[in-house]
Formats: sequence, structure tokens, C-alpha cells
Amino acid sequence: MVEATLEQKYNYSVVRWFTIMSAVYLVVGALVGVYIASELAWPILNFDSPYLSFGRLRPLHTNAVIFAFGGCILMATAFYTVQRTCGVRLWSNRMAWFTFWGWNLIIVSAVITLPLGLTQAKEYAELEWPIDIAIAVVWLSYMFNFIMTIVHRKSSHIYVSNWFFLGMMVMITYLHVVNSLAIPVSLFKSYSIFAGVQDAMIQWWWGHNAVGFYLTAGFLGIMYYFVPKQAGKPVFSYRLSVIHFWALMFGYVWLGAHHLQYTALPDWTGSLGAAVSMAMIIPSWGGAVNGMMTLSGAWDKLRTDYVLRFLIMSLAFYAMSVFEGPVMSLKTVNALSHYTDWTIGHVHSGALGWVGMVGIGAIYHLITKTYHIELWSTRLVNTHFWTATIGTLVYIVAMWVSGIMQGLMWRAYDEYGTLAYTFAESVEAMHPYYAMRAVGGAIFLAGAVMMLVNVVMTVLTANSQGSVQKARTAAATA
Ligand code: HEM
Ligand code: HEM
Repeated sequence: MVEATLEQKYNYSVVRWFTIMSAVYLVVGALVGVYIASELAWPILNFDSPYLSFGRLRPLHTNAVIFAFGGCILMATAFYTVQRTCGVRLWSNRMAWFTFWGWNLIIVSAVITLPLGLTQAKEYAELEWPIDIAIAVVWLSYMFNFIMTIVHRKSSHIYVSNWFFLGMMVMITYLHVVNSLAIPVSLFKSYSIFAGVQDAMIQWWWGHNAVGFYLTAGFLGIMYYFVPKQAGKPVFSYRLSVIHFWALMFGYVWLGAHHLQYTALPDWTGSLGAAVSMAMIIPSWGGAVNGMMTLSGAWDKLRTDYVLRFLIMSLAFYAMSVFEGPVMSLKTVNALSHYTDWTIGHVHSGALGWVGMVGIGAIYHLITKTYHIELWSTRLVNTHFWTATIGTLVYIVAMWVSGIMQGLMWRAYDEYGTLAYTFAESVEAMHPYYAMRAVGGAIFLAGAVMMLVNVVMTVLTANSQGSVQKARTAAATA
């Protein structure tokens, strides 16, 4: 009966579709990831084709995982959470569907233009100017609908998840628009209005904040709603979550320069970036502990609730990457880590371990709640959990070893003061670790495929049993 009322009260259809698409895009993005990882280990896979070359497929991978998988799950969860915590339906159904179709069309245009080599060559902002404008319009529709739903809320309070989502939406609008300012010279070619060192600074101000606001704040919005819900307990400390929120909002915007240590940027900007990065350990760990402690008194649930396992494991990876990142921002450490695979290891402990796992936990939760049905196979979720964890660990261990080895080989001198190793020797030394990363990625991908099968089978079962329809009818007759 409760489910029936919820089906009538809230707009779940758009949430259902965003959730399904995020499962699809995780498989696609991870598949491209495994392919490019294999290209680095076995370059023959480039097949001498520009369309399949590493340089063109790499941005396809990053766009697919960040904006397609990440974007769809952020939109699904924000639209779901805002309705549930504000006690009202989404402000506009039509606008929500505009966001859904608009976002998916943008993804399709990325899939077409990136392999064709149409790019602005700015990391995480590769898409050309017409697509950038479309992104701004669709993103604004997402934000406007979200804000208007909050404005019409029935509860007096605005739950902390909504603050994190809103912080992400506002900041990403601002960052995307400023970083994409460009002068078009044709339909698919434009030049940034910034040049030289300013261009680098603006690009990494966007780049780090895409990490800080999109991959961190947005996903923390997910964490603060779905961990307590799945655990069946209120968040451990609400006060801590509010401190976590404001500290991230004020801190993250200052960090971009830590991507540009030892470059033409003034030295103090890198020092500022490193100092604020170190300070960020405290609120970030506070948030991670807050999420984990939500389980205090209910740890036994981890034995049986596989979805909760994903959520808690994601917090462990979050804690790890927000410690590793600040350490890497220090100039002495960055002198070793920059340009090496250590960065790639850090990226994927955050991306697979944190963003991936918390997103996966949310997908499983949303599929059961919005289709009013149990998952098709809980055993498959369990297997998925282990493949995702083992795959992530194999990936990041391979990159740590490869990265530190690269860094040490590049800076080794012999007794005459000349470089001890040629670059080609360092490439050769990395080969086993590249193969290992491809294997780790394939294990992670296998888990993502299991999830997609589980999601599709759950949806088909729900459709054949008419569970959504039954909930609607029950609510109408009640
Ligand atoms: C099966 C899983 C995955 C595999 C095998 C994989 C593989 C790769 C490879 C080979 C690269 C290029 C590294 C280089 O240039 O040296 C890369 C870059 C990247 N991947 Fe993945 N990836 C996977 C999943 C993900 C996911 C789920 C995310 C995000 C949620 C992600 C985010 C990124 C980012 C942000 C970069 C760019 C890193 C940088 O420029 O420093 N990846 N990935
Ligand atoms: C307080 C938290 C964090 C700090 C201070 C931090 C710091 C850093 C530093 C210093 C780098 C290397 C810059 C370079 O040498 O070029 C880096 C790279 C990166 N980090 Fe983090 N990190 C944090 C958390 C995270 C999290 C949670 C993620 C989630 C996915 C993440 C994703 C990335 C990505 C994608 C890059 C590669 C950017 C690129 O070069 O393309 N970071 N981070």
C-alpha cells in the first residue's frame, strides 16, 4: 500500500529511465576503458585506424563514464531524492523528460564527434561549441526543475543531499560556461578565448572542480541519501554533514593549480593549491566517517545486504582517494607522480572505487524501489560486488607500481650525471602492469555486465507481473 501511494505521489518514470541508462552507459564506458587499456598493452589493437586510435577513444571513455554513466545516475538520484525528501512531485514532468532526451542526445553526439576527431582538446571539456551550448541548456533545465521542486516542498527542512546536489548544479553551470567560452570559426571548430597560462589555469580550475563538484559533491549527495536509506538508520551526525558540505564548497574552488605544479604558473598558485588540498583531508574524512558510522549498531547488515556493501566499500575508497590526492598535490610528491600512471591509479581508485561503487549501489536501490519488486538475482549482486572490488584493486595496484616505477626510472642518473634509462626502457618496464590493468578492468567490466543483466531481468519481471501498474491501480482505488 505504501508503495502504491508513492507511485501515485511521485514521478518515478523519468527516474526509472535515467537509472536504466546509467547501467547501460557503465557497461559501454568500461568496455571502451578496457579497450584503450588493451591498446596501451598491445598497440596492434589500434589497427592503424584513426577512429580506433587511443587518442580518439580515450576522450570517448572519459566522456562515457563521467558524463553518460555519472550524469545519468546523478540525474536519476537527484530527481528521486528531491521528491522523497521534499514530499512533492517533480515540479515539471515535461522538463524532466526534456532533460532526459537532451542529455542522451548530447551523449550520442559525443559518441559520433569524438572518434571523428572533432575536439577542443581540453580534458573533460572536449566537445565542440554547439554541443557545449546544448549541455548548458539541458543542465539548466535539470537545475531549474530541481530548484522549483525544492521551492514547492512540503517539508520545512531541506535535507543535506539536496544541498550537495544543488552545490554541484550551480558550480558546474558556472565552471562549464566559463571554461567553454570560445570563438567559433566553423560549425565544428572553435578557439578558446583564453590563451597560454590563463587557458591552462581556467582549464584546471574546471578540471579539478569537475572532480570536486561533479564526481565528489554530486556523489556525496547520493551517499547521504542512499546509505541511511539502505541501512535503515538516520545519518550518524547531521551537523557533521553540514560542515562537510560547506567545507567542500569553500575549499574545492582553490585547488585547480595543484594540477599545474612546476609549470609557467606563478609558484604561489601551486603552493596555495597544495595547502588547501591538505586542508581538505579533514572535512573529507569527516564525511567518510559520517557515512560509515551511520551503520553503527547495524554492521551485521553487511553480511546480508549486498547493496549496502557497495555503498560502504565506496566510502572506504573515497577515504583513500581523498588522502592520496592531497599527498600528490605536495610539490615534492608531485615531482615524482605527475605525468606517471600514479595519477591514473589515483583517478581510478576514486572513479571505480568511489564514484562507480556508490553509483552502482544507487542503481540497485532505485531499480527495486521504483519498480516495486525485489532484484531478479541477489546472488548476482554478490558476485558483482566481488568482481567490482577485485577488479578495482587489480587496476589500482598495477598503476601504483607502474607509476612509481616510471617516476623513479625517469629521474635516475648514473655516476656521470646522465639519465640511467631511456624512455623506451621505461615503456618496456611498464608492459606487464599495463596487461594487469587491462585484466583488472575486464574483471570490473564483467561485474558491470552482470548488473545490466540483473537490471534488465528485474525490469522485464516487473513488466510481466505489472508491478508498476498494480501499484498505480491500488493507489487510485485506495
Ligand atoms: C573497466 C573499467 C575501466 C578501465 C579499464 C579504464 C581504463 C582507462 C584508461 C586505459 C585510461 C587512460 C589512461 C592513460 O591515459 O594512461 C583511463 C582514463 C580515465 N578514466 Fe578510466 N577506466 C575504467 C573505468 C573508469 C570509470 C568508471 C571512470 C569514472 C567514473 C573512469 C574515469 C577515467 C578518467 C577521469 C580518466 C582520465 C585520467 C587522467 O587524465 O588522468 N574510468 N581509463
Ligand atoms: C581532497 C581530495 C582530492 C585531492 C586534493 C586530489 C588531488 C589530486 C592531485 C594532486 C592530482 C594530480 C594532479 C597532477 O599531478 O596532474 C589529482 C588528479 C586527479 N584526481 Fe584527485 N584529488 C582528490 C580526490 C579525488 C577524487 C575523490 C576523485 C574522484 C574520482 C579524483 C579524481 C581525479 C582525477 C580524474 C584526476 C586526474 C586529472 C587529470 O590529470 O586528468 N580526485 N587529484
